[in-house]
Amino acid sequence: MSVRINPSILAADFASLGAELERISSADAVHVDVMDNHFVPNLTFGLPVVERILEVTRLPLDMHLMITDVDRWAPVFAELGVFSVTFHAEATTDPVSLARRLRGIGARAGLAIKPGTPVEPYLDMLGEFDQLLVMTVEPGFGGQSFMPETMPKLLAAREAAKRAELDIWLQVDGGINEQTIEVAARAGADTFVAGSSVFGANDAAGQIDLLRQRASSHSHVA
Ligand code: DX5
Ligand code: ZN
Repeated sequence: MSVRINPSILAADFASLGAELERISSADAVHVDVMDNHFVPNLTFGLPVVERILEVTRLPLDMHLMITDVDRWAPVFAELGVFSVTFHAEATTDPVSLARRLRGIGARAGLAIKPGTPVEPYLDMLGEFDQLLVMTVEPGFGGQSFMPETMPKLLAAREAAKRAELDIWLQVDGGINEQTIEVAARAGADTFVAGSSVFGANDAAGQIDLLRQRASSHSHVA
């Protein structure tokens, strides 16, 4: 039974990023949200900050690109040597070609869909991806409430993955805490992004453990 907990540094203290990364050293990866104030109405950071994060942590980097020009930028992030690059389906007309480019560079390729985007058009191409991110809030900001109405998309993706015998990770992002993680795990998620619930805890490592336990006990993924 393997579930993954990826804290989102969007909820970290940006003035002490090195120390914040230390607090989550027991996580499976660090989730890094890149926003361009165009795809979403918020702006975070770009290449120089990501390069520095790579230098100071041993955790794999799970990049979540909430940007418009993914065809240009996703391969650039992959070239840095990050573990995984997830881009939004809504931001490209040819997700399969982009996924192939990312995998060719050596990164895991992830496809993200916003709460209002149906999953059906993408089910047949899941084999081209290492991860599907079903957003459980409208992308752009941390600290929002989990949207349970996105769960049928996870169930559909889990079913399709099972049918095609795919080894794809199903990620959820937004409003994940010790309660909602159980709902998402039951729907088939195995990879959980948590921002405020981890960085807002006094004991971030304890919170990671708790989330992992809750997810494992509700997961139906072998
Ligand atoms: C939102 C980001 C998330 C965000 C999650 O657009 O993609 O990764 O940091 O934050 P929480 O866990 O606070 O909802
Ligand atoms: Zn994210």
